[in-house]
Amino acid sequence: QKEGYRFFMEKEIYEQSYVMIETMMGRVLDENIILDELDKDFLDGINAIKICACGTSYHSALTAAYLFERLAKIRCDVEIASEFRYKEPLLGQDTLFITISQSGETADTLEALKMAKRAGLKSLSICNVDNSSIVRESDAAILTRAGIEKGVASTKAFATQTMVLWMLALYVGQEKATIAPEVLKTEIDAMRHTPKALTVTDELHAKLHRLSKRYLHGHGFFFIGRDIFFPLALEGALKLKEISYLHAEGYPAGEMKHGPIALADAELFTIALMPKTMHYEKIKSNVEELSARDATICAISPEPFDLADDFIQTQYCTHPMIEFFEMMVVTQLLALEISIRLGNDVDMPRNLAKSVTVE
Ligand code: F6R
Repeated sequence: QKEGYRFFMEKEIYEQSYVMIETMMGRVLDENIILDELDKDFLDGINAIKICACGTSYHSALTAAYLFERLAKIRCDVEIASEFRYKEPLLGQDTLFITISQSGETADTLEALKMAKRAGLKSLSICNVDNSSIVRESDAAILTRAGIEKGVASTKAFATQTMVLWMLALYVGQEKATIAPEVLKTEIDAMRHTPKALTVTDELHAKLHRLSKRYLHGHGFFFIGRDIFFPLALEGALKLKEISYLHAEGYPAGEMKHGPIALADAELFTIALMPKTMHYEKIKSNVEELSARDATICAISPEPFDLADDFIQTQYCTHPMIEFFEMMVVTQLLALEISIRLGNDVDMPRNLAKSVTVE
């Protein structure tokens, strides 16, 4: 059932364009977001959002926090479920508690949800498996419609989680009238363009295959980005770690000079996420600093960048989320190609399981 692909992960990367259409189906209509899963009064009394998740799902949560605050003007904070569980969190009754989980069975996320429920919070889950424990435990659920994900390293689940969270941020803004109609329209237009941005071309895949041979050794990777591209950097690093067993870290680009730049030399590989729609000049100067210390730079950007040792050109587009999804595909394919060259089992990386039902 790999349908000609070498690994399920590869197949799932290619499926992303299609599953995004599925995830949007019936939910993005004209100039509105429709979420039938939520009762009309679901958001009544809600003035803040807290999200709990683990791993890749945590990275989609971090992305969402920028979107909720920027688009819906609602406070949002995010916690790793295994940390949240053992804190003594102060939970306001006006907070909507969101859990994100591909499997719906992650023990730490489930326990965090139970804790929030005991504290009397309203709960919503974003999940890929209907009737899973987390869905059953939540007051409401929005399914991601990614289809079964077999590769241990999550790809299409992350893409659809991020899409649902983006829709939800717009929905909250729409229902609470905190988003201007013209902004809502621009966002929905951009949303409709994302499936195209996720299409993998032969040219892109071949380029990443060629380029991957440079990145098999060395003493580590830094994925850097700003704003929503910071959680994407975390996710890019996690993908690479999981299937290549190489050390990789995601870092906010502006934070490198506060310590990690000390590691910079030719053996330090920096994957720089350089979108044109968001803080381009800032990230450019962060990358220049690293290049001046001899770090090997792989730049992902629509804008050609002279100092890059390798350059992966993305499309010029008008919206950060389109750039986000395009760059997400690049980082996934890079991890895939490095892992294949190293001879690893991409779908079943050592020490990992698809569903983590123990804490
Ligand atoms: C990474 C990955 C894991 C999961 C994490 C949470 O590729 O798959 O980090 O994201 O174990 O799993 P779910 O989303 O099922 O709660």
